[in-house]
Amino acid sequence: MKVLIINGSPRLNGNSSKLTDELIGIFDKEGVEVDLYQIGAKAIRGCMACGYCHEHGECVFKDDVNDLSKRFENEDGLIVISPVYYGSANGSVISLLDRLFYSSHFDKRFKVGAAFAIARRAGTTATFDELNKYFTISQMPIASGRYWNNGFGREQGQIEKDEEGLQNARVVARNMVFLMKAVKDAKEKYGLPEMEETKFTHFIK
Ligand SMILES: Cc1cc2nc3c(=O)[nH]c(=O)nc-3n(C[C@H](O)[C@H](O)[C@H](O)COP(=O)(O)O)c2cc1C
Repeated sequence: MKVLIINGSPRLNGNSSKLTDELIGIFDKEGVEVDLYQIGAKAIRGCMACGYCHEHGECVFKDDVNDLSKRFENEDGLIVISPVYYGSANGSVISLLDRLFYSSHFDKRFKVGAAFAIARRAGTTATFDELNKYFTISQMPIASGRYWNNGFGREQGQIEKDEEGLQNARVVARNMVFLMKAVKDAKEKYGLPEMEETKFTHFIK
């Protein structure tokens, strides 16, 4: 089993990285392979609604998004960790996720998702909700924890004092492993649910 972790922080050793380490500790113990990607200072631009992906199944911009999409297609779960900027996910995270989810057309059903919001003080629950929406529009179940998934700290490394946040991250990682195993077994036993042809709401026909 393999999990893609997208660390959305521009800071290479920031608080998101510390939380990532906590997750990796559990995945290592459980024998789950980790595919780690950090946005860092890369220029990830937003979707420009050109429609290129409708025909080509990939984004017109040849940056990391198309590569991540190929990796994600063959993986069992996706974790997104974002620092909170002005009560929302970091702009690069949103640019990347908009394009990753919109341009890729492979079946994401039952890949397990989890999101974490890292902040000094406020905006974590709004960011958590914002990130979970990519999963819930893709028929992806969400691994949850003992609290809404946040971690607190301002300067690099301060999250180490947030014992509750780090413990919750370990809980989520263990629950994610359990869910991915359960999905694998269920797929073999029952197969995936029937898919209906997509219908669009009446007012945009
Ligand atoms: C542009 C900017 C906006 C921020 N906005 C918020 C905010 O709305 N709420 C908050 O609690 N912290 C805010 N912060 C603080 C970061 O979320 C905090 O430092 C966090 O630990 C960064 O995570 P990282 O170390 O993984 O990059 C902001 C930081 C920056 C640079």
